[in-house]
Amino acid sequence: MGLTRKNLSVLFATLAASGVWLGTSWGDGGPTPTFPAVSHKATAAECAACHMAYPAGLLPTRSWTRMMRELDNHFGEDASLSPEETLAITRYLTDNAADSPRANERSRRIASGVAPGDSPQRISETAYFRYLHDEVPAGVWKRAKIASRANCIACHTRAESGSFAEREIKIPKE
Ligand code: HEC
Ligand code: HEC
Repeated sequence: MGLTRKNLSVLFATLAASGVWLGTSWGDGGPTPTFPAVSHKATAAECAACHMAYPAGLLPTRSWTRMMRELDNHFGEDASLSPEETLAITRYLTDNAADSPRANERSRRIASGVAPGDSPQRISETAYFRYLHDEVPAGVWKRAKIASRANCIACHTRAESGSFAEREIKIPKE
């Protein structure tokens, strides 16, 4: 069987899902799972109205650029802002993105698991997130107090300060 474009993309998807992307092997553990909390006033105010303000280091630049361009249809909500605010927030998020020069090792792992040309809109759909959470049973995500993978603070008690250490995890029982 020759290497067609189709089976190449299947191969890449499999590698990404298993935590291996173009030579990246994440392994166990790693540096402290900290992502600097949002330190930009407008981002903290506007992007925490409906959920926690996700640290910029959780997604690569191209994800944030696309998200900020499509705020009028943000996961079914209208989250649009003034052009000035949009520009300032976009600048903050991209300056601190997972593939920016400021990114820490954990962020670089997120970025390394995103295929070139991909701009995922969900942290919870990135390969590194799936890799970190592959032992969480499917039913757990559906518990009423969790409801969504995007609800980091339901389990990571210090997520709002950017800390996701194992000892701080408390999974709601219902
Ligand atoms: C009007 C409400 C609202 C505002 C304001 C808002 N969001 Fe959201 N956001 C949502 C909803 C709803 C979801 C989907 C949540 C879910 O699936 O549980 C979401 C999801 C996300 C996700 C994906 C989380 C994941 O991993 O699945 C990111 C990233 C995000 N928002 C970033 C932002 C940013 C950046 C801003 C500020 C510019 C912002 N949001 C402002 C409503 C909002
Ligand atoms: C159902 C509860 C739950 C939710 C919701 C959740 N996580 Fe986790 N998370 C876990 C568990 C369990 C682990 C695995 C802990 C372990 O075995 O080290 C984990 C591990 C992690 C780790 C690695 C910790 C380490 O010690 O290496 C990071 C980073 C992380 N999660 C980020 C997130 C982010 C970001 C979100 C939201 C977009 C999120 N998680 C949502 C339960 C959750």
